[in-house]
Amino acid sequence: MSTANDKPLALVTGGARGIGRAIAERLCEDGFAVTILDREREAGEATAAELSRQGHTVTFEAADLSDHASLGPLIARLPVPTVLVNNAGLFDNRPLFDLEAGDFARMMDVNVTALFLLSQAAARRMQPGGRIVNIASRAFLGAKGHAHYVASKAAVVGLTRAMAMELLPQGIAVNAVAPGAVETEMVARQSPEARAALLALQPTGKLAAPADIANAVAFLASARTDFIYGQVLMVDGGKSLGGGMGL
Ligand SMILES: NC(=O)c1ccc[n+]([C@@H]2O[C@H](COP(=O)([O-])OP(=O)(O)OC[C@H]3O[C@@H](n4cnc5c(N)ncnc54)[C@H](O)[C@@H]3O)[C@@H](O)[C@H]2O)c1
Repeated sequence: MSTANDKPLALVTGGARGIGRAIAERLCEDGFAVTILDREREAGEATAAELSRQGHTVTFEAADLSDHASLGPLIARLPVPTVLVNNAGLFDNRPLFDLEAGDFARMMDVNVTALFLLSQAAARRMQPGGRIVNIASRAFLGAKGHAHYVASKAAVVGLTRAMAMELLPQGIAVNAVAPGAVETEMVARQSPEARAALLALQPTGKLAAPADIANAVAFLASARTDFIYGQVLMVDGGKSLGGGMGL
């Protein structure tokens, strides 16, 4: 349940940058030791070093989530986690008629199957009080131009609910956070037109900061959420509320 320095351990996938990095930082501030799992070694080591310089306890483990056979052994050789945050994810814009089976497989491999395998391996070892927080997306409600991503995030919501029911008797709470558009590299890679379209749909007139998502994750990762299971917390600046015309 604890690391050598007696802080509870939180594993954060995709913590090298973006939302995952903000989650790692926020969980450190909440008293966790954090291990970042990411395929980007240089960025992951730099993030771990920078957070450690700030006085936090952070380590980095290189891991490619699409290498499914490696995930169980990886979790088995790490200290027992109190929290697992399944944040790493792929995004890709591709219209429906351009999508091929391989596009679906690549997306599902990382966004869904790896999330399931990591959760299964972590839950085998977690003590009562353990927490799994999955990063879905507001897009699970539906979005144009990336049906494979939408399908993967809807699967994350389904898995969150199913795992919550099966792990509840073990004292492990599984919940999800569904961000709207967030200022990260994932969004920076979009065209100016796609970015303008995103902003036009934002009731707040701005995109979320990674810290906005990290705050919601920190809540669901804490011991204070003992009666919350299988929920999806929308952190989207009101975007999922409707058109605002009252109709
Ligand atoms: N940025 C947004 O607007 C937004 C909105 C809704 C949901 N999300 C979700 O939030 C999560 C994080 O998004 P982000 O914007 O920070 O993305 P990002 O692309 O900036 O960072 C993703 C991180 O995951 C890692 N990663 C990707 N594939 C991996 C693999 N196979 N193995 C190991 N690590 C891998 C990357 O190296 C990177 O560090 C994703 O699940 C994404 O779908 C993002």
